[in-house]
Amino acid sequence: SGQQLLAGRTVLVSAGGTREAIDPVRYIGNRSSGKMGYALARAARALGAQVTLVTTAPLPDPSGIATVRVESAAQMQQEMTDRFATSDITLMAAAVADFAPAEVAKHKIKKQPDTTGLDLQLQKTPDILASLGKRKRSDQFLLGFAAETDDLLKNASAKLAAKGADMFAANDVSNPAIGFGSDNNRVTLLTKDEDPLQLETASKDDLALNILKQIAIKLRDN
Ligand code: C5P
Repeated sequence: SGQQLLAGRTVLVSAGGTREAIDPVRYIGNRSSGKMGYALARAARALGAQVTLVTTAPLPDPSGIATVRVESAAQMQQEMTDRFATSDITLMAAAVADFAPAEVAKHKIKKQPDTTGLDLQLQKTPDILASLGKRKRSDQFLLGFAAETDDLLKNASAKLAAKGADMFAANDVSNPAIGFGSDNNRVTLLTKDEDPLQLETASKDDLALNILKQIAIKLRDN
């Protein structure tokens, strides 16, 4: 549309599922494709922003976007925290693991003829969004994503409050036509003060533009 709604703004986006190492060859991962985060990064760039993408996804670097590759929740937290203070808008689209192996084995874990199982000790990862929410200044905007299978709006608004975000994009992942791995998505935008806004089901690219336009309006009206 040629609208440069985000000209002069800096945008920081996280994308993809984190990989938590078990040993040198294995990890715990999840099904996030990273597509929504990449779509948000491209849309922010198209609206005139200066964009940084912190990503785990095996997708090519999008052009005109500073791309930082990470693997684990701990690495993602480091790279997001380092850049947060200079970001006007931060979009936490990554699917961050909730638990990671408490220790990474130095050598590949072997199975013996007589072993029947393996006990893996997990510990909680840092909540990146919540830690950014604590540092957020009033001139900054922070968006989180909630993928829920039930009580979508109730669970997402609880997360909005708990994590100190300005907006949550909630989507129903029990519907296979939208969400993980799919090219289409449907989200409802939740904020503290306004009624939930359900955006039209759309391609992730169109939806990303729509989300960023809503954020640009909020920033303008502040
Ligand atoms: O609590 P839940 O994982 O459903 O929250 C989802 C939101 O929180 C997403 O925006 C996700 O990127 C973020 N998150 C995070 N660090 C975690 C877990 C989730 O930043 N350890």
